[in-house]
Amino acid sequence: MVWNKERVLIFLCTLSFLFFFSCSRTEEPRPENMENIILGFSQIGAESAWRNCNTRSIQEAAAHSKIQLVFTNAEQKQENQIKALRSFIAYQVDVIAFVPIVADGWDTVLNEAKDAGIPVLVTDRKINTADETLYAGFIGTDSIREGRDAGLFLLKKFADRVENYPVTGEPVNIVELVGTEGSSVAVGRGEGFRQIIGDHPVFRIIHSESGDFLRSKGYELMKAILEKVKEIDVIFSHNDGMTLGAIDAMTEQGIRPGKDIVIVTIDAEQAAIDALKEGLVNCVIECNPKTGEAIMALVTRLAAGESIPRLLHVSEEVFTEDDDLSSLPPRGY
Ligand code: AHR
Repeated sequence: MVWNKERVLIFLCTLSFLFFFSCSRTEEPRPENMENIILGFSQIGAESAWRNCNTRSIQEAAAHSKIQLVFTNAEQKQENQIKALRSFIAYQVDVIAFVPIVADGWDTVLNEAKDAGIPVLVTDRKINTADETLYAGFIGTDSIREGRDAGLFLLKKFADRVENYPVTGEPVNIVELVGTEGSSVAVGRGEGFRQIIGDHPVFRIIHSESGDFLRSKGYELMKAILEKVKEIDVIFSHNDGMTLGAIDAMTEQGIRPGKDIVIVTIDAEQAAIDALKEGLVNCVIECNPKTGEAIMALVTRLAAGESIPRLLHVSEEVFTEDDDLSSLPPRGY
């Protein structure tokens, strides 16, 4: 073949086109066919009915949106989550989403995801980081508001004592059953609660301890606390699982939950709503686990290279002993 000027030009053009095309395929973050989105999702475990509902919601929504879900369960260990995130990066998924078990310690792995060009969505629990570019956005609960709602309920419930303390009013002694230490939800719920009751010296947190969001630990904790602490007016529990365990421990001791001790709990599982209807609990603050559809909508946008809102709080309600709950639909968790 004779390599005249024209042939060389055509050859070079073809080469540069092929080079450009292959580069644009590897650098382009979005899949051309949106039905082929691959989402790597790291869930923290199955510690509560709430969590199982959250998992179901994500799996069902992924199937419904035809998003290919690579789902991992970290069994309550941050190191397992970090490993999962690294495997998603190695697998070159289109988007990573995860529920951070604790708030600290994510920067290194999130930098790896950033270097690989994979957008990250944080859900349910928040992270602490100085570098906000390490994740695209957050969707989930507003735990500070949940804690504030718990405090606001107590302000109403103990309005007399709040008004008359310290002249005639007795102090209100509170035991706090805390969620997983270092998790944003445990920190936020505690913080929001203190923002409200902190202005009223009638409220005293006489004991605060982590039950790790587990029913079994809620039971053990409450049993041990009841042996040491006698004058308890209120249990503020960071989740329904621990509350139900604590109710078992109280009942065993002949204490009437909801009457002898006021109970405020977070999540709004069916079992807690039933307990509220039976008068065993006084206030239930909803934490909404059904975020699957909203997550998939955000994932689709991220896979298309679009930006998403930095912060999305899901809608949540408060149910109290004063409400008519007869027409409340089944909770589904
Ligand atoms: O992060 C949300 C919390 O985690 C829920 O309140 C609790 O039940 C779950 O384990």
